[in-house]
Amino acid sequence: MHKPNAQAVISALELEPHVEGGYFRRTFQADQRPMLETERGERYLMTSIYYLLTEQSPIGRFHFNESDILHFFHAGDALEYTLIFADGSLQTLVMGSDILAGQLLQMHVPGGIWKASRLLDGSNGFGLISEVVSPGFDFGDMQMGDRQKLTAQFPQHRALIEKLTLDED
Ligand code: GUN
Repeated sequence: MHKPNAQAVISALELEPHVEGGYFRRTFQADQRPMLETERGERYLMTSIYYLLTEQSPIGRFHFNESDILHFFHAGDALEYTLIFADGSLQTLVMGSDILAGQLLQMHVPGGIWKASRLLDGSNGFGLISEVVSPGFDFGDMQMGDRQKLTAQFPQHRALIEKLTLDED
């Protein structure tokens, strides 16, 4: 088997830059089923993407999603997830293939919280996962984290928020 580098994975999977950082491609949307009615409008029942972080784009910046998201680790180096819940509590989880070290192959992130991800050092220079979103992904359910607003809301997490958002001053 070839040991791929980040650029080879981006090409092979036809990934595009994501607004959060990293790269993605939607692989599925449930368009064979009726759409779901939600408070914010019609959504697919389920959508799925590949998501990739690389040494050149190692951070998936803080963002909020209303939907539940299941994450599945596929290949490369481990990814660290930082979750901030509505009550301000923080959770750090690592997705990767070292299951004996407690790294996760599968991770559920509930809707209604803030999430960021970061590529950890390793020999591959990329980490590849999939995300299954239900109700299906829609920008109307998603907010990018604004550094000023997030630090005002969660001052106790200022250092993490500064590391995992863009400086947009
Ligand atoms: N994040 C999770 N799923 C999706 C998707 O389908 N599109 C975009 N742009 N971001 C996502």
